[in-house]
Amino acid sequence: MNTLPVEQFRKFKNDITRFLMAYKFALDAFETKIDILTEEFQLFHDYNPIEHTKSRLKSPESILKKLYKKGLDISLPSIKANITDIAGIRITCSFIADIYRICDMLQNQSDLKIIEIEDYISHPKQNGYRSLHMLVEIPIYMSDRQENVCVEVQIRTIAMDFWASLEHKIYYKYNRTVPPTLLQELKEASDSAAALDRKMERLHNEISEVKDAQAEEWGEDLKQISISNQQFQLPEALLRLLSDRPNNV
Ligand code: GTP
Ligand code: MG
Repeated sequence: MNTLPVEQFRKFKNDITRFLMAYKFALDAFETKIDILTEEFQLFHDYNPIEHTKSRLKSPESILKKLYKKGLDISLPSIKANITDIAGIRITCSFIADIYRICDMLQNQSDLKIIEIEDYISHPKQNGYRSLHMLVEIPIYMSDRQENVCVEVQIRTIAMDFWASLEHKIYYKYNRTVPPTLLQELKEASDSAAALDRKMERLHNEISEVKDAQAEEWGEDLKQISISNQQFQLPEALLRLLSDRPNNV
């Protein structure tokens, strides 16, 4: 009996598992970066710019479908070179300014290589799609090698995310041929979502100004700190005093 095809299949399966593992590690490493930014921002800026994050690995079936659709060679080097969204992470923020803040913070991380930034916020797609896309390469260290792995990052507000998920559902429900009236309504919904984003940001800025004015009035700068997962707002002077004491009690 010829066992070669079985062995070949086993080797191919191992190769692809190993290959996809690197993308999973890339997502893990990237999520840790986002967790650090979230926690640090909360601690020192008394505010959390990230509402939530969601990551996904593209399934082998979807990878093959995309290769086929683009008429590309079916091989691991071809996948690595051409399919840049195997590891995807979506970061949802409260406000538009936060999106650019996170984009800047990621650009300042020296281990990340920014391959591409597509700004669909300043230049929305014709259908009304808004988001900031980044293609980022992250180094992953394994037992015997280092690999630079591409991660697609989509950063958007809650309103942009709400719109995109509905548009996605409609697009697939109508099998990619959405009636023109519905397309027009989607475009209008996108404009309303953008107007809501602008209004919420303006209100948020107004509230921040009031908070700053109050802190000034009290002569104190209140800082949010977290002890055993509990949040406390304490005057900065008190925090300085506590940190000077032995054992930081
Ligand atoms: P592909 O990666 O093949 O899609 O091509 P591309 O790199 O030119 O796509 P692009 O960067 O525009 O979009 C990549 C991803 O952004 C998609 O897989 C979606 O998750 C999201 N996206 C882009 N355009 C739209 C859109 O019009 N509607 C929705 N709902 N999502 C979109
Ligand atoms: Mg793209």
